[in-house]
Amino acid sequence: MVSLCLTPQSNFSFPRPIPTTAIFSGDRAVRKPFIRAAVSKSTADVAAVVSGESQLLSQPPQISPPPNPALRRVSPASLQYENGYLGAVPDRSNAGDGDGGMTAMRYLTNILASKVYDVAIETPLQYAKKLSERLGTNFWLKREDLQHVFSFKIRGAYNMMAKLPKEQLERGVICSSAGNHAQGVAFAAQRLGCNAVVAMPITTPEIKWRSVERLGATVVLVGDSYDEAQEYAITRAGQEGLTFIPPFDHPDVIIGQGTVGMEIVRQMKGPFHAVFVPVGGGGLIAGIAAYIKRVSPEVKIIGVEPSDANAMALSLHHGERIMLDQVGGFADGVAVKVVGEETFRLCKELIDGVVLVSRDAICASIKDMFEEKRSILEPAGALALAGAKLIASTMD
Ligand SMILES: Cc1ncc(COP(=O)(O)O)c(C=O)c1O
Repeated sequence: MVSLCLTPQSNFSFPRPIPTTAIFSGDRAVRKPFIRAAVSKSTADVAAVVSGESQLLSQPPQISPPPNPALRRVSPASLQYENGYLGAVPDRSNAGDGDGGMTAMRYLTNILASKVYDVAIETPLQYAKKLSERLGTNFWLKREDLQHVFSFKIRGAYNMMAKLPKEQLERGVICSSAGNHAQGVAFAAQRLGCNAVVAMPITTPEIKWRSVERLGATVVLVGDSYDEAQEYAITRAGQEGLTFIPPFDHPDVIIGQGTVGMEIVRQMKGPFHAVFVPVGGGGLIAGIAAYIKRVSPEVKIIGVEPSDANAMALSLHHGERIMLDQVGGFADGVAVKVVGEETFRLCKELIDGVVLVSRDAICASIKDMFEEKRSILEPAGALALAGAKLIASTMD
């Protein structure tokens, strides 16, 4: 995962007023981007590596229906907007001051006190010279792909697991994941000395489940989709007294991911204007926003989603969580049909909008990253860069 920050060149003026002009494409309004230059976007994971032997279930498990059946089902195609536009700007006109969840100040203090550095490293924030020169905007890359497990996911998983009472840890943990969260949980379990079961869809590439297995976790390949693997994990957690470690929708997971935001603020030498964050279920962006909006409220926090996996943009657009009726799997790390409840609550309150990017734009960013740093990112890892480039390239 790479996190990208952009800072302005000399003629940069920010913040700019947000144009009120709405552009309609189908039934959705889109606002013109207001960012001139800076953004810190995060993400860029490198696919896991390893080999081993799969543990396919000999007996097909009982799989319950997909979660959240009550959510409105919506097609990704119902909200599309032009390249470089910032849409899904949350409507905060009715925002109250109370909140039904953890307060922003508690998120901030918990992020500051987080124990993620028992297992995570403070990843470098690198200046992207070629891109900055080409686009006339200063780009900075937060290199979460350099974590031990190639992704920021270790932060949230460890932060939640390290807080579990001893007896709960001893009973073991379980999670479902198509990749990066699984490695985070497995790595954290290894460090904390507890057992971990990881449910992964049977479509998971061998290279990914092997790497989880190598970290000592018990891998169960089950179900055709992430939703089915999740149902299995939740059911088994209840049956065996294991603790379910969610990939994004838990305050302790969000707090762990929020340490990325804390590092960005600390590592940036001068002012910066925006942070672009890849969005799957919303844990990373919620954590980053929870920290940065408290300490530097002027910084824009922009989500980036593939245009065919736009669950957060659509949820913000409708003012409530929706369920995608289908989801594009190219950027598999962010192929999520339903965003989290707590992550959505925080995003509605804190983020400044979502940029949608095409598959071609993601591929172009993988190439940019190779030319810039000789690193190869997984598609979800290149997402934030794709979004930041689109915004930067449409600015005068
Ligand atoms: C590389 C990468 N970027 C972004 C995300 C999205 O994170 P979140 O689900 O917290 O929004 C993931 C999720 O696994 C990921 O692997």
